Amino acid sequence: MSDYHIKNLEDYSKNYKSSVNNPEKFWAEIAKNNFVWKREWNSVLNWDFNKPEIKWFEGAILNITENCIDRHLDKHANKTAIVFEPNDENEKEKKISYKELYIRVNKMSNVLKSKGVKKGDRVCIYLPMIPELAISVLACARIGAIHSVVFAGFSSTALATRIIDCDCRLVITSDGSFRGNKILDLKAIVDKALDNCPQVSKVLLVNRTKNKISLKKDRDELLAPLLQEAKEECVAEPMQSEDPLFILYTSGSTGKPKGMVHSTAGYMVGAAYTFKNIFQYGDEDIYWCTADIGWVTGHSYIVYGPLLNAATTVMFEGVPSYPDFGRFWKIVEKYRVNQFYTAPTAIRALAKESLDFVNKYNLSSLKVLGSVGEPINEEAWNWYNNHIGKNKCPIVDTWWQTETGSIMISSIPNVIKGKATFATLPFIGIQPVLMDNNGKEILENSVEGRLCVKFPWPSIARTIWGDHQRYKDTYFSTFENHYFTGDGSYRDDQGYYRITGRVDDVIIVSGHNLGTAPIEDAINEHNEVAESAIVGVPHEVKGNSLFGYINLKSKIDPTKQNQLRNEINGLISNQIGPIAKLDQIEFVPGLPKTRSGKIMRRILRKIAHNEVDNLGDVSTLLNPEIVNQIINQIIK
Ligand code: WTA
Repeated sequence: MSDYHIKNLEDYSKNYKSSVNNPEKFWAEIAKNNFVWKREWNSVLNWDFNKPEIKWFEGAILNITENCIDRHLDKHANKTAIVFEPNDENEKEKKISYKELYIRVNKMSNVLKSKGVKKGDRVCIYLPMIPELAISVLACARIGAIHSVVFAGFSSTALATRIIDCDCRLVITSDGSFRGNKILDLKAIVDKALDNCPQVSKVLLVNRTKNKISLKKDRDELLAPLLQEAKEECVAEPMQSEDPLFILYTSGSTGKPKGMVHSTAGYMVGAAYTFKNIFQYGDEDIYWCTADIGWVTGHSYIVYGPLLNAATTVMFEGVPSYPDFGRFWKIVEKYRVNQFYTAPTAIRALAKESLDFVNKYNLSSLKVLGSVGEPINEEAWNWYNNHIGKNKCPIVDTWWQTETGSIMISSIPNVIKGKATFATLPFIGIQPVLMDNNGKEILENSVEGRLCVKFPWPSIARTIWGDHQRYKDTYFSTFENHYFTGDGSYRDDQGYYRITGRVDDVIIVSGHNLGTAPIEDAINEHNEVAESAIVGVPHEVKGNSLFGYINLKSKIDPTKQNQLRNEINGLISNQIGPIAKLDQIEFVPGLPKTRSGKIMRRILRKIAHNEVDNLGDVSTLLNPEIVNQIINQIIK
């Protein structure tokens, strides 16, 4: 790893300039000097945002797992790659060295191969945060199978939708998942999902919770005996740089989730380079990201980014509140964690609890704190800074997306100083711009606009699985020749970016992107419901909570309303998962609509926020009278 590490502001400025002035030369050097290639590229970048088509390092051949594991064996065979901290603090942790990881990934690859999985096949991984999750991801990558990890908190319907969309034939799951003192019966959820997925011919099971499960003959098999038998060597499949590495689903503003497709080489370069620099990872450091590998943060900053840098990465199975609210800090002390990366929703939840949970532990190992997933409010930022970082750890507020593959805007410890509520400056190679509503780039500072990016970066998602048109419509059609992020942003007089939130119909609840459309679809399945609209309202811990306006087919007895609310939330839980449940449900006599029939969410949002003084002109609505009726009902 030669010229990879940005050490000071001068380095940053110099590298940033070259990455913008001559991106091909810049990225070719990073790629050449810091990774192993079986063959080098013919061209560094080919792109056209209008098509859209983006190709990095075309002609190159590589395998990402050789970069994550094999090449480290010379120097780091005995270094810990993954530290596994179980849900139950009394269960012993596991430390997996690079050598052991090599063997376990190879064995898993051989098992997958023996079940007929080939290059290009999609494999669904539905596992809790146990080492087998990271190992399965890497095993797929080793044989060129495309992994599609589905967060193990999603419902059977959500799981089935994702299996069907990319036509997975094999699912890797476990008997159950520990969540605090509960066990979630994952196998039962998978069984239910597979009732609708006849194409799945094989389910491989990790034994984790030892709850009773039934195995379906010919379809279900326990992994342990297969792994035991498997050979310890598996040749890494030669992959083209643009071969898909994985699919990861994210919510959109229309019903179906979007299967974002990430490439092999570009993603690798982006994940590795950002990890090293944004966390300023040093060789002996212990790094911990609390995300779940079911989300992109876990893909890039628990698995790929750290392993590409021969780092030690902590994987935590449990929740921050079990056995008590000191668990995170106890783990930091236990492993002497140096870099700690979490989400604002977790910080807010922990900040509500007594400081005794923090002060009991020695957090002096911490050097860098990170935040991701949603805007971090000043209060949470200050708490994190004062009580966890003790005012000596730089905080990196990292803005990025499932679609971007790696961090896009962030401060850099000891290089670019952080500033509360600002993600700050673009990372090397990233060219953000703000656009006004007329599609014109705003050049001044101290303005707010829609956040776009005007030039490709290596880890941008290449398409939506099976729907390239939707990829184009969603990201490249709002503003000509630009990638549109869906976020609004303010740029201050120093050129620092603050992300102000989504400008589309995606609401971020506890760091999870939820599209309004799929939730409304779930609600509308209820027999009593005529139509519905969801808006987000600010919430102390979750960032946003969901508020549903529901118009029923016929009036309902007030004493039955609560039962109906429960039924509606039950439907949402079934279709999507408990994270999408509504905190407030109002039964309203109608929804305000434009004359073309579009629901005016802007008005509903204002009412839910209790901001009814400036609703604007409602007289042009199809049903203006409904606005006052709703206000009278809700704002008492
Ligand atoms: C939001 C997560 C403010 C944003 C990596 C983005 C943020 C969406 C930040 C992507 C941040 C993420 N500050 N907002 N530091 N990080 N977001 O795809 O709205 O789960 O578009 O990727 O989260 O969420 P996703």
